[in-house]
Amino acid sequence: MKSEELQALAAQLLNCNACPLRKDAIAPVGWFGNADSPIVFIGEGPGGVEDNYGCPLIGPSGQLLDKALWAAKMTRDRVLTTNIIKCRPKGNRTPTIEEGKQCAQLWLEKELSIIKPTVIVALGSVALHYLGSPELRITRARGQWFKSAQGFDCIATFHPSYLLRLAGHDQVVAKWNVFHDLEEARKKVLEITPTYQLMSQQPTDLFSLFKKR
Ligand code: URA
Repeated sequence: MKSEELQALAAQLLNCNACPLRKDAIAPVGWFGNADSPIVFIGEGPGGVEDNYGCPLIGPSGQLLDKALWAAKMTRDRVLTTNIIKCRPKGNRTPTIEEGKQCAQLWLEKELSIIKPTVIVALGSVALHYLGSPELRITRARGQWFKSAQGFDCIATFHPSYLLRLAGHDQVVAKWNVFHDLEEARKKVLEITPTYQLMSQQPTDLFSLFKKR
């Protein structure tokens, strides 16, 4: 079963010491959600709140993502969220392309080969650069389908932290862009797996599921 395979992988991830990022983090942060999900959302890497709670996208970015998902009729318990890198870089700096590549080849690729999603949503540039190519710009590439090297159907959208940095009209426009990208992703999932329930009746309360570690 996929959930058991992911559980075994999570146990291995906790012992990872493959790169220097590990020493500045409390512990690696894996993934959250449904192992059978046909859709996977890939962020950048854990921030401070994620490092504290051991859950991806649980802090301010995650809260905004959850609202966007709810608007697009998806909930966190029914999809799967993960990151390119698993350990929080010191000072929350953006991981380099090399750091992303090294970590994703060790962990994310294994997750994806277990989950075999129909659709991947790249949240922001770091995920776009890894899944697509480092030359791509998120402002141009968002909303367009591309294939990852492993053959997954991917679509990129803005990272929620980018939305949080915008204000006024720019923020409204970018939020609508994200909403349309999520709808597009959902449409593709439902074309291929029409019976999969992407939404529970309530939004997922991650803070009731995860405690500070
Ligand atoms: N937290 C995450 O888990 N991923 C991000 O991309 C940003 C914050």
